[in-house]
Amino acid sequence: MRELTEQELVEEGERLGRSLPPRSVLLFQGELGAGKTTLVQAIARGLGVRAPATSPTYALVHHYDGRRGPVYHLDCYRLKREDEAADLDWETLLRDGDALLIEWPERAGAWVPAPTTRFRLSHLDDPSRRGLEVE
Ligand SMILES: Nc1ncnc2c1ncn2[C@@H]1O[C@H](COP(=O)(O)OP(=O)(O)OP(=O)(O)O)[C@@H](O)[C@H]1O
Ligand SMILES: [Mg+2]
Repeated sequence: MRELTEQELVEEGERLGRSLPPRSVLLFQGELGAGKTTLVQAIARGLGVRAPATSPTYALVHHYDGRRGPVYHLDCYRLKREDEAADLDWETLLRDGDALLIEWPERAGAWVPAPTTRFRLSHLDDPSRRGLEVE
């Protein structure tokens, strides 16, 4: 596990985004405030997204325009039941997305597609750093 400052995490995310293969499915796990959205937005910037639009926080799916195509960002935190994920148009997300970035995938259970990479973020004793594991 690496222990990264916010700046280091952002730089890592931008770098990952710049070299991300098309049609990647990335999962982001970790407690509240662990840095999932921070990492997602950095990866999106690396994919060429200019304005991580100030989307309404209650939206389940955020749609950004990346260099190669749509970048979809899902935040499943507010799903009350896994079944609610059935209403999402997974087929379109997988077909059209240059990247599909999913926060709180555990809340969508079996609806989550097979990931290409899984990121686990964690709080550390040092409040300015976060643990990052990539698998
Ligand atoms: N090393 C670090 N890496 C990432 N974020 C950090 C770091 N140090 C401090 N922070 C702060 O922690 C917060 C992380 O918030 P963020 O929204 O990215 O978390 P999250 O995992 O998406 O939370 P949620 O589960 O609520 O969606 C931000 O306010 C950020 O400034
Ligand atoms: Mg978040």
